[in-house]
Amino acid sequence: MKIISSPLELKEHLKNIKLSVGFVPTMGALHEGHISLIKKAKEQNEMVVVSIFLNPTQFLKGEDLEKYPKKDEADKKICSLSGVDVIFFPQTSDMYGVDEVSILAPKVRGYVLEGQSRPGHFNGVLTVVMKLLNIVNPTRAYFGKKDAQQLNLISLMVKQLFMNVEIVPVDTVREKDGLALSSRNIYLNKDERVEALKVASSLRAASAMVSKGVLNSHEIMDSMREVLAPLEIFYVEILDREFNPLLHVEIGNTVILVEVNVGTTRLLDNIWL
Ligand code: PAF
Repeated sequence: MKIISSPLELKEHLKNIKLSVGFVPTMGALHEGHISLIKKAKEQNEMVVVSIFLNPTQFLKGEDLEKYPKKDEADKKICSLSGVDVIFFPQTSDMYGVDEVSILAPKVRGYVLEGQSRPGHFNGVLTVVMKLLNIVNPTRAYFGKKDAQQLNLISLMVKQLFMNVEIVPVDTVREKDGLALSSRNIYLNKDERVEALKVASSLRAASAMVSKGVLNSHEIMDSMREVLAPLEIFYVEILDREFNPLLHVEIGNTVILVEVNVGTTRLLDNIWL
């Protein structure tokens, strides 16, 4: 496994490789969710590149950039055991200069849901993903369905900017009790960990209602809010796969999303029906 920190060196390394390349961008603190992205990339490609870069431009002032978990050595071990061919491990100065060109998230879809409470967050995400995709030039890039809005906006960017990469969505990995894996789960104390289960419970409740034939979005969202109480709710939404609001669940075309604060930890989750 090669570890490369310079963007130009990585471009040079990949230049003459004629293999299909699967790319898994991460911010480190790798867990089973990332491993499932790597596995999928290995299944579908001849070579796998993982980037580990804690991207400062997607954090707003006062967010958790400084305390975001860093596990460089464990991450390298996980990549090596998972059969990754190359880790791209740049410093901030390798990725950003001064007076930068950047990608702007769309004015509507980039500023609802998570983008409403974190205005500008998706500019940072799209800019770094564009840079990473240009450096690696992969055949396919892998993103978790858990960050559904991120996945939606990256897919939109690739489509609207006519980029040459296939975006592959990968299912959310959960703990046995339902909690969706996230690098931020590490912030939860014991009591908060119990409260956090309400997020997955609310989605299970929604899914159970749909199974019983209740398709009215407001009815479902009201029940979800009851399950989530008294957590601080950023949003509960029922949208189609293009992220337009749905008055009624459409099986095969629906995402139900929720984002809450548990203590001071922001947790998001969703199900695709
Ligand atoms: O989902 C993440 O870990 C990050 O937002 C990403 C896509 C690696 C960009 O920094």
